Amino acid sequence: MSWLNVDAADAVVARPIDALREFLGTGSGTLLDVGCGQGTLSDSLVQQGYRVTGIDPYVGFGMPALRVCGNAHALPMANNVFDKVLLHWSLHHVPDDLMGQAIREACRVLVSQGILYVVEPEPVGSSQVVSRPFHDETKVQALAAAAVDQLVLEKGAHRRRAYYVSEDRYPNFDFFVDDMMSRAYNRYQVEDLCQDVVRDAFEACREEGEYRLRHRIRMEEIRW
Ligand SMILES: C[S@@+](CC[C@H](N)C(=O)[O-])C[C@H]1O[C@@H](n2cnc3c(N)ncnc32)[C@H](O)[C@@H]1O
Repeated sequence: MSWLNVDAADAVVARPIDALREFLGTGSGTLLDVGCGQGTLSDSLVQQGYRVTGIDPYVGFGMPALRVCGNAHALPMANNVFDKVLLHWSLHHVPDDLMGQAIREACRVLVSQGILYVVEPEPVGSSQVVSRPFHDETKVQALAAAAVDQLVLEKGAHRRRAYYVSEDRYPNFDFFVDDMMSRAYNRYQVEDLCQDVVRDAFEACREEGEYRLRHRIRMEEIRW
């Protein structure tokens, strides 16, 4: 079964790992996972056949992917060394004025026939509605999309796109708050989350005895 759709309007719920596996396919080369966080996806891409290095300012510890501490806009890597570079839900976390630089850095470390993957949330879905009052990512999501558009335009690159819907499920509001507060790279406080407007939007996500928050995700493959 396919988890991906080329038409955004047809996107269906999938686990991010399943969507990513399908989009990248099995592979054998080197892959740099920029903004890898704890490295869960990096490790799973090792299982898929890639030799993975993950980089993040808040990098986790573990195996089997190699972990490096650093920023997307100043990669501590030589030119032309990775077959693939992936930015998975990370480009919109790079400071606004450095997103273009992060894309240029990704291109710099790619080999000449290398492939860039950028996976980003779109401002579509109940998750965005719930989080907007305490953590509005609409602007940074648009800037991240524009940085990729500019690369495609400037370099005359070929782009393949696919979409899915990510879904987070919670038994109650407290679990949602705990999950949000576990994301150390975000800068909101627990009081920002516990506003009535957030609780009300969360309550509207109740389905079959639990709370389901959804987000449409855009996957882009860029090659030259
Ligand atoms: C939503 S998480 C995604 C983590 C991981 N890629 C995943 O999909 O599970 C965003 C990640 O971007 C990282 N990040 C924030 N600023 C960054 C920067 N300047 N350069 C690289 N990564 C950054 C955060 O530390 C965080 O791990």
